[in-house]
Amino acid sequence: MYKLSISPVFLLALISAVPGSLAQTTTAASAEPTATSNAKLHTVAKAAGKLYFGSATDNPELTNVQYISILNDSATFGQITPANSLKWDATEPARGDFNFSGGDQIVNLARANGQLLRGHNCVWHSQLPDWVSDGNFDAATLTSILQTHCSTVVGRYQGEMYSWDVVNEPFNDDGTMRSFVFTDTLGSSYIDIALQAAKAADPNTKLYINDFNIEGPGVKSTAMQNLVKDLKSRGIPIDGVGIQAHLIVGELPADIQQNIEAFTALGVEVAITELDIRMDLPATPDKLAQQKTDYQTVVSACNNVSECIGVTIWDFSDLVSWIPGTFPGQGAACPWDENFVKKPAYDGIVIGFQ
Ligand SMILES: *[C@@H]1O[C@H](CO)[C@@H](O)[C@H](O)[C@H]1NC(C)=O
Ligand SMILES: *[C@@H]1O[C@H](CO)[C@@H](O)[C@H](O)[C@H]1NC(C)=O
Ligand SMILES: *[C@@H]1O[C@H](CO)[C@@H](O)[C@H](O)[C@H]1NC(C)=O
Repeated sequence: MYKLSISPVFLLALISAVPGSLAQTTTAASAEPTATSNAKLHTVAKAAGKLYFGSATDNPELTNVQYISILNDSATFGQITPANSLKWDATEPARGDFNFSGGDQIVNLARANGQLLRGHNCVWHSQLPDWVSDGNFDAATLTSILQTHCSTVVGRYQGEMYSWDVVNEPFNDDGTMRSFVFTDTLGSSYIDIALQAAKAADPNTKLYINDFNIEGPGVKSTAMQNLVKDLKSRGIPIDGVGIQAHLIVGELPADIQQNIEAFTALGVEVAITELDIRMDLPATPDKLAQQKTDYQTVVSACNNVSECIGVTIWDFSDLVSWIPGTFPGQGAACPWDENFVKKPAYDGIVIGFQ
């Protein structure tokens, strides 16, 4: 899913990173507006009373010095999420055969930089190895496989993770439970099993369920609220709801703040976990201006609710964004462009925390 390429204007980006008139001359060639704020995003989020502003990151990107020098700045990113290296295909590619080399690299980086971590994820229908999906396991065996996976992966990082997306994307867009091997074999009890295994493996990490298209009110958001109520009523541990927020410029749902409040009213915290706001390419000044407004709206909605504890973007530079590979013709979804120049969206985030 992730393709790292050297942008044709990568060298220009190096030049434009130099402050002063040379940089202005160089970036002016792109004819696109840039950010004006010099405030650091995590600093601004903390000043607003949030726990963090953060970014996803991925192991292949960590070889890009320009990229990592921004990621490393804990005043900009007080939290990071491994985008891929803690998923099932990376951590248990064969049954009982665990591999933490990618996860350890990112956890060690965060520790060295003093950044919080979100673990992502224990159980998800995608990036799930065939040995799990196609194993024809009976319910007892699949239960054991899930318990072993979650307790081993969460246990590996006991005390290191602020939170874990224990269950990722359990719902279809119509609010029904998504069909995959765990629901097909265990029903929704797989969610209980995963949460309980995670709780036992790291009693102090915050246990989240994370999904997309729950940014505004609707059947999917309602289904998530009903799940939280059900879990709480049965004493299954659940601490938070992750609202992914993979959004489209000019197409934000209404009432994002009220929707967040509907979750926090149930006694869970909320985090914006995977924010990016894509557009049809090419980017234009108008689209970038709308994107700034849209970033501001999402951040402001979280900022207005004290139990919305932080915002994570799904990587920070268009150079490494997953969007163009998954949504052909779309992109420019991140607050930094592919040359690591801050876009107007950056200013939108700063304003959203005010
Ligand atoms: C990034 O941070 C890590 C851990 O603190 C450090 O080892 C590395 O040298 C840093 N890299 C850059 C380019 O700043
Ligand atoms: C473990 O994962 C790393 C990073 O993805 C990979 O390079 C390595 O080959 C894996 N190790 C084994 C033994 O499969
Ligand atoms: C956040 O609260 C401010 C002040 O009441 C309000 O102007 C703004 O519209 C709210 N943000 C959202 C996204 O609702």
